[in-house]
Amino acid sequence: MAKIIGGLTTSHIPAVGNAMAEGLEQDPYWKRFFEGYEPVKQWLDEVKPDLAIVVYNDHGLNFFLNQVPTFALGCADNYQNDDEGWGIPASADVPGDAQFSWHLAESLIRQEFDMTTCQEMKVDHGFMVPMNLFWRHHESWPLKAIPLAVNTVQHPLTSAARCFKLGKALRKAVDSYPDDLKVVVIGTGGLSHQLQGERAGIIDVEFDLQCIDKIINEPEWMTGLSNDYIMEKAGTEGIEVIMWMIMRGALSDKVDVLHKHYHAPISNTGAGVLLLTDAQ
Ligand code: DHB
Ligand code: FE
Repeated sequence: MAKIIGGLTTSHIPAVGNAMAEGLEQDPYWKRFFEGYEPVKQWLDEVKPDLAIVVYNDHGLNFFLNQVPTFALGCADNYQNDDEGWGIPASADVPGDAQFSWHLAESLIRQEFDMTTCQEMKVDHGFMVPMNLFWRHHESWPLKAIPLAVNTVQHPLTSAARCFKLGKALRKAVDSYPDDLKVVVIGTGGLSHQLQGERAGIIDVEFDLQCIDKIINEPEWMTGLSNDYIMEKAGTEGIEVIMWMIMRGALSDKVDVLHKHYHAPISNTGAGVLLLTDAQ
């Protein structure tokens, strides 16, 4: 049977894509940030997952504001990256697993999460930066990936509570797949950042660290927060943190923390990394 062997989270800041493309990892601005990924990369190379479910938000590459699904699942055998205007070279296509995706879609829809299914889907920095952070040291992608896009851009948005429930449904969906597959779930985005308006540039380190602690130890806390409150604290784009709750919902009630890292600022954002497993 397929099994979720771990949950990861990471911010997906496009400037990180540029730093990787330019080889700036040892640069004083970037060094501590990139060091935060080394233990996770080591763990991934030891456990060798077969597949990653990458929860991210599309920022206008695949879905523009004229049509934005709340939850969309990639159901393709191949996903293409493209230039979003940052001038970062496009990454190699990422292999998918359409058969597994359709199983997830069937199971999630049966559990009342009515996913939009996408047999073609271009993936932006929200998906690609995490993939590169965790696996760019391999010659080619060492696993398959399934994009799960959550609308965190065009209001009205879904909630942390709904995302947590979706994570639980996702776990049931994975657990009921007959093939032996080791799966990791990656929640991307956040932590605090706001890219436009009067409050552009705000970062709330205290709130970020509280989110990290609560997501680990008491995820129900975040299910009680309104989107307005999260955006007041974490900035309008800080709402991306609700996607971390999909990862958390896919794990057991108690979790072990294999790695935790936070660095602010990177670009406009408080950048967090987590590696969690079900409590042993
Ligand atoms: C930044 C962060 C994001 O999550 C994003 O999608 C775009 C930009 C930033 O910090 O610059
Ligand atoms: Fe983003």
